[in-house]
Amino acid sequence: MKIGICSDHTGVEYKARLISYLLGKGHEVMNFGTESTESCDYNDFAHPLARAIESGECEIGIAICGTGNGMALTLNHYDHIRAGLAWNTKVGFFVKAHNNANVLVLPARFISYRMAVSIVRVWLETEFEGGRHLRRIGKILH
Ligand code: RB5
Repeated sequence: MKIGICSDHTGVEYKARLISYLLGKGHEVMNFGTESTESCDYNDFAHPLARAIESGECEIGIAICGTGNGMALTLNHYDHIRAGLAWNTKVGFFVKAHNNANVLVLPARFISYRMAVSIVRVWLETEFEGGRHLRRIGKILH
């Protein structure tokens, strides 16, 4: 898949390691930054990722910040983005199976890298269940 990825300064290391992991699995990866551990604003990296998904340049995305909330709050302003936060593999399963999240958001300050990569693996492998969940995500936009 063509996967976009971004982080703020708190997620730089996890982002770099996840890029290697994803490339190793045969995915194409577009990196929207940041590349520095200098304090920065998560929005500056979330918006370019969001625009790439909205335009179809990327199929899905991964966004990382300290709690995950800044990224999720920013990304979910876009009509075609469902950015879901996951902090363990069970939530990683449900965020795809029930919410069909097309952007996975990870809280770098609260999970290990090992957990982060496990969540990514589960999210990528899980299929959306559709049915009642399709009806529910259809009611997100007001
Ligand atoms: C950075 O300190 C932190 O606020 C940011 O990574 C994120 O957690 C915001 O939601």
